[in-house]
Amino acid sequence: MSVEATAPGKLILFGEHSVVYKGPAVVLAIDRRARVVASKREDKRIYIDADDLGFSGYFEDGDYTAVTGKIWRGRNMMALSVAAQKVMAKLGVSSGINLMVRSMIPIAVGLGSSAAVCVATTAAVGELFEGHLSQESIAELSYEGEKVIHGNPSGVDNHVATFGGIMRYERGVGFERLKLKDPIPFIVGNTRRKRSTRNMVEGVKALRDRNLEVVDPIIYTMASLSQVGLNALMKRDIGKLGDLMNLNHGLLSALGVSTFELDALVYAARAEGALGAKLTGAGGGGCMIALANEEFLGRVEKGIRNARGQSIRVNLTDEGVKTRRLESGDS
Ligand code: MEV
Repeated sequence: MSVEATAPGKLILFGEHSVVYKGPAVVLAIDRRARVVASKREDKRIYIDADDLGFSGYFEDGDYTAVTGKIWRGRNMMALSVAAQKVMAKLGVSSGINLMVRSMIPIAVGLGSSAAVCVATTAAVGELFEGHLSQESIAELSYEGEKVIHGNPSGVDNHVATFGGIMRYERGVGFERLKLKDPIPFIVGNTRRKRSTRNMVEGVKALRDRNLEVVDPIIYTMASLSQVGLNALMKRDIGKLGDLMNLNHGLLSALGVSTFELDALVYAARAEGALGAKLTGAGGGGCMIALANEEFLGRVEKGIRNARGQSIRVNLTDEGVKTRRLESGDS
């Protein structure tokens, strides 16, 4: 018997980086999902098959052995092994496990692929041992895995991957799930440049440590912008939402997390009629998002492609983590 779990990727509309320190982030779950299938093994290995991503290997007594791909890929996989161990410790069981990881979320570009995989692993392993974990427990245990990769994550990514929907997330305060009456179309532009969230978060921390009296007011402004942005989103005040996205991009640039390629996509989108455009996620590469009226969507997408970006259409989804038992023959 095996268990499949899937979890969604995400877009951060407002509050990336500032959420690590202060105030809320506004996050949207998207209809690109990561899938993990978990099954028990006779030995004590945690074997992770992420062949679609170009690597697979196993952990035994904490050490990683690569089967395909480079040994350093073990660092990416460590989060999954830790999440699986935490689940088993919570449930008071111990076993070797196979994890087959497949994902429709492009990796390391700010769309929440690592959190989605970590959340799906946590849920799949929980269900494999009939632990019937609550969503709260899944978010909590997957955060332990996330910490291994990202160092000091705010918790926003694992929460949205667990609960789905539109979310106001504030560190130490909690989260609120919100509903929009009608969908708002966002366009995603991918620079295709991979980067590490951990490095980006550490870069902002170093800048803040060196310039506390200047950087903290920027972070406070981002925190209040995020709250104002949430109000504009709920009122569907598209014009204001666009202004706030543009302002947020400027502040993220001030923190040093934008890049030449991200700026190129942001300015291309605005030149083609986007009401607002900003980087999304940790920056340093990865993706940006643009908001445009229906009649400009095609132009904005073309503008992103002409600026060497990949334009991706995503829809928002309410669906958080989902598990399903697979009998032999299911795939
Ligand atoms: C990464 O998706 C969002 C950041 O704010 C980091 C975090 O919240 O942990 C950059």
